[in-house]
Amino acid sequence: MTTVRPATQEDVAVLARLNGFVHGPHVEGRPDFFQPPSDKEKLASLFHDFLAGEDALAFIAEAEAEEAEARPVGYVTATIHHNPGSVLTRPRSFAFVEHIAVDPEHAREGIGAALVEAVRAAGKDAGCTTVLTDVWDFNKTALAFFDGLGFVPMHHWLERSL
Ligand SMILES: CC(C)(COP(=O)(O)OP(=O)(O)OC[C@H]1O[C@@H](n2cnc3c(N)ncnc32)[C@H](O)[C@@H]1OP(=O)(O)O)[C@@H](O)C(=O)NCCC(=O)NCCS
Repeated sequence: MTTVRPATQEDVAVLARLNGFVHGPHVEGRPDFFQPPSDKEKLASLFHDFLAGEDALAFIAEAEAEEAEARPVGYVTATIHHNPGSVLTRPRSFAFVEHIAVDPEHAREGIGAALVEAVRAAGKDAGCTTVLTDVWDFNKTALAFFDGLGFVPMHHWLERSL
């Protein structure tokens, strides 16, 4: 069985390890944009600083192991935004999923869905009306995953080499 709990500063090393499951495919998919983390301490600091943020949400999924400590198998990070709007846009509050990763050994067990559900519930408690995220176009698995959870395309970023 897998359980989902909030991440704390104690989990910085766990988050940095699990990040490999999302960052690796991004380095592979867009090596012109992403690079392998050059410095483990800097990666840990990135999560330390993120968790210190007032609007940060982070959850870890743990697989229960018999006679052993629960094993972290996935994580999600998200930020809460209360956007006041502008002369051209309406105010809106939303949770934005920044990272999500599940150990491939545990793919298709509903862990990713449980992590997104944790963000949805926390976002709702914080007054958000939507959950947003962005996905690189090469990442067909993630597109299928979010589609499966009822996410719909909202905005397209386009690029052209010069
Ligand atoms: C995307 C990811 C988080 C999904 O995690 P997961 O735990 O395997 O997903 P779930 O088991 O909760 O899947 C929920 C639903 O999403 C859809 N889905 C998930 N993976 C899918 C795939 N490879 N192909 C098609 N649909 C998929 C299905 O509808 C699935 O429900 P079902 O299994 O009952 O059919 C995981 O594949 C991952 O960590 N990928 C690498 C990191 C990454 O790309 N992160 C997203 C960055 S934007």
